[in-house]
Amino acid sequence: MPIETTPVLSGPRTAGPAPEADIVAVPFGPGRTPPAVPGTELPVPVDALLAQYEAKGEPGEVVEATALREGGLRRVLLYGVGDGSPGALRRAGAAVARRARRRASLSVVVPTKEDFGQGFEGGAEGATASLVEGALLASYSFSIGDGRPGKPVREIVFVGGDERELRRGEALARATALARDLVNTPASVKTPAWLADQAKEVAAGAGLDVRVWAEPELGEFGGIRAVGQGSVNPPRLVQLSYTPENPRAHVVLAGKGITFDSGGLSLKPTEGMKTMKTDMAGGAAVIAAMSALADFEVPVRVTGLVACAENSISGSAQRPGDVIRQYGGRTVEVLNTDAEGRLVLADALAYADAELDPDVVIDVATLTGAAKIALGPTIAALYSTDEALAAGLAGAGEATGERLWRMPLVDDYRAMLDSEVADLANVDRAMSGSAGSILAALFLREFAGGRPWAHLDIAGPARAGSDEGEITRGGTGFGVRLLLRYLAA
Ligand code: BES
Ligand code: MN
Ligand code: ZN
Repeated sequence: MPIETTPVLSGPRTAGPAPEADIVAVPFGPGRTPPAVPGTELPVPVDALLAQYEAKGEPGEVVEATALREGGLRRVLLYGVGDGSPGALRRAGAAVARRARRRASLSVVVPTKEDFGQGFEGGAEGATASLVEGALLASYSFSIGDGRPGKPVREIVFVGGDERELRRGEALARATALARDLVNTPASVKTPAWLADQAKEVAAGAGLDVRVWAEPELGEFGGIRAVGQGSVNPPRLVQLSYTPENPRAHVVLAGKGITFDSGGLSLKPTEGMKTMKTDMAGGAAVIAAMSALADFEVPVRVTGLVACAENSISGSAQRPGDVIRQYGGRTVEVLNTDAEGRLVLADALAYADAELDPDVVIDVATLTGAAKIALGPTIAALYSTDEALAAGLAGAGEATGERLWRMPLVDDYRAMLDSEVADLANVDRAMSGSAGSILAALFLREFAGGRPWAHLDIAGPARAGSDEGEITRGGTGFGVRLLLRYLAA
């Protein structure tokens, strides 16, 4: 895979920075002086230095200085940690790792309550985990060929902090990086069969059971078949199963796995199509979250379903006006072939309801441009039929920095999806163009069988146009950390 390896982590060290470290990062906060670093002497008093730069200690802020050490010089990064909240520390870790790109080694001194006093949040949630998460996620890069990806620092040594937290932050970052890799892989490589193979590899590595349905067995999955029928790369349905001892409940995660969305015969314009390899980001989040369930000792049974198809254009593609039969028998008039995500997900949801007896069903999908327009590039739309589930997911997203905004399932709008010839139409018959994200959610709800269900429309945050904090350009892995947090709670 064309992926730059992420930095090797080590620590926590207790004796100060690794002697060979090129760069040492030392925390400071608003009104808090950085702790002294043994063996590293700044040329001027640190308070004077920070005052000179008018440094405030905000998260993401970095003041660079050159210090004397035995036998030479060393770069010191004084990094702001703000209130020490998990979000501030992720940002701080990201800023420090970015400054150390291309270097061999970075030592990061972890802020402690002793140094920063009461009111400093670090430690409560785990300063180390958040710092590690931010540093590793910001070090992620993906490139194919001999271009110059921003090479990450080769090694990060954490000074102080907690070993278990370090491993936790690492597991979260690695799972997120897996989702990013899957999303960033071009659709020429990433066929439905390829994506199913990746899921199999993940399953083998993580001790999950896996089942893949290919063409002949997909018979009853009329939505997945209809969306996939226009492509030379046939569709797949993937099921991943995680079963701990004495599971407390059973959660089904369903991910949209459209490996490329051309729109089908309802063809997208080039501008709208060029990022559509991202259209399996929901499926990637499901696969990646499942890869780490055992690491977090998740106490519930989890079944992941990824509905994989390429929405292509050809003489065998489905046509606007076609009527298809979803899993379970309900018929859908396909008025717009570009509203394909709901067709593949409806099969997955109906199958989960009929065959898996879940206590909770959560689907994750880059479902509508409307969600992106409504909430922008960093926030996902959350729909749910269950208050506790909605609160659990929103709380998890708040904690991990993957924000969700609750949207209404407006019952009155459901009639817009009535069809003249089938049980349901896949889009607003009148093509009013309004409430696009809500209508997609209402469509999906029809197939959840009245079970506690939530839908995350990640069309906006699945992809980023630029680096920001722990987010890197391209696929973001949105949803992986929040799902893991929700499931582990
Ligand atoms: N994959 C798209 C949604 C999307 C758009 C994701 C932009 C990320 C960025 C989805 O399949 C789609 O095309 N939805 C249509 C629905 C419409 C035809 C009702 C849309 O949003 O335009
Ligand atoms: Mn589409
Ligand atoms: Zn799509």
